[in-house]
Amino acid sequence: MIQGSTLFYPCSGNDLFVPIRLFSPFVTDFWFVDRAYFSPGHQDSRPYGYDAPADKQAPLLQGDNDYQLIDTRIDGPVSWNPNCYDISPCILTETYVHIPSKEKVIIHRRRGYGFSAFRKHIRSLGVFFYRGDSQGEGGSGNWWLAPDHVREVCKKLIDGGLIVTDGSQGKSRGEYHQFTKYRKEKFQNDPGEILQSVQPFTDKEGRTFTCVGYAGDRYGPTLIWQIKKPTRKGTTKNVPKVTRR
Ligand SMILES: C[S@@+](CC[C@H](N)C(=O)[O-])C[C@H]1O[C@@H](n2cnc3c(N)ncnc32)[C@H](O)[C@@H]1O
Repeated sequence: MIQGSTLFYPCSGNDLFVPIRLFSPFVTDFWFVDRAYFSPGHQDSRPYGYDAPADKQAPLLQGDNDYQLIDTRIDGPVSWNPNCYDISPCILTETYVHIPSKEKVIIHRRRGYGFSAFRKHIRSLGVFFYRGDSQGEGGSGNWWLAPDHVREVCKKLIDGGLIVTDGSQGKSRGEYHQFTKYRKEKFQNDPGEILQSVQPFTDKEGRTFTCVGYAGDRYGPTLIWQIKKPTRKGTTKNVPKVTRR
């Protein structure tokens, strides 16, 4: 259901390779957003080199034989003073061909704030990826899993789209408390154990949330939730006709 869709990951730091490996080439448009990208000397991006100016970044997937870089584009000032919080965004966009499938995969790294990027660039979303964030130093303090923001994300999510999260910064209450409920759980033996114990739920607008997978640990297990929209009463889904020859 996420074929040809977009993935958005705010406050992504250097956690880019797991989402790409998990969802490419089904997802063909990746957005990684962090205020610390391309800000020379920024304490949050310096340890892994994404503080260097956008025009000095090595191709993200260089060395991966499954991908061939075919285009690079930069929009915005290539570097930014880390002490200046009124950030002018910069987007470094790399286009690759995923050789086994021949799919074109576009990867954006954007210097800037998460909410503004989400509102400006995302129209339709296949995967919302969010983990490893906190209220502490270096964390965003943005409540992406608070009900208002989950609703904002869900409005752009396609039917059958995914929310992938470790429950970062979520408050364990409200109609979406299940996102954070498992944060403290340790499922060391068997990821299947997680899938069995996580309960599906429905929100006030009738969307159903079902845990369909596990993507490793961060501040807790990263769970993959699939969101199905309610079908309108009285309508039936159009089932495509199969013609046999
Ligand atoms: C604790 S790190 C987590 C990085 C990544 N999610 C991970 O799990 O490794 C939080 C990141 O959020 C970034 N950040 C903080 N506030 C932000 C904001 N308002 N918008 C975008 N990124 C932000 C920081 O620069 C930092 O890289």
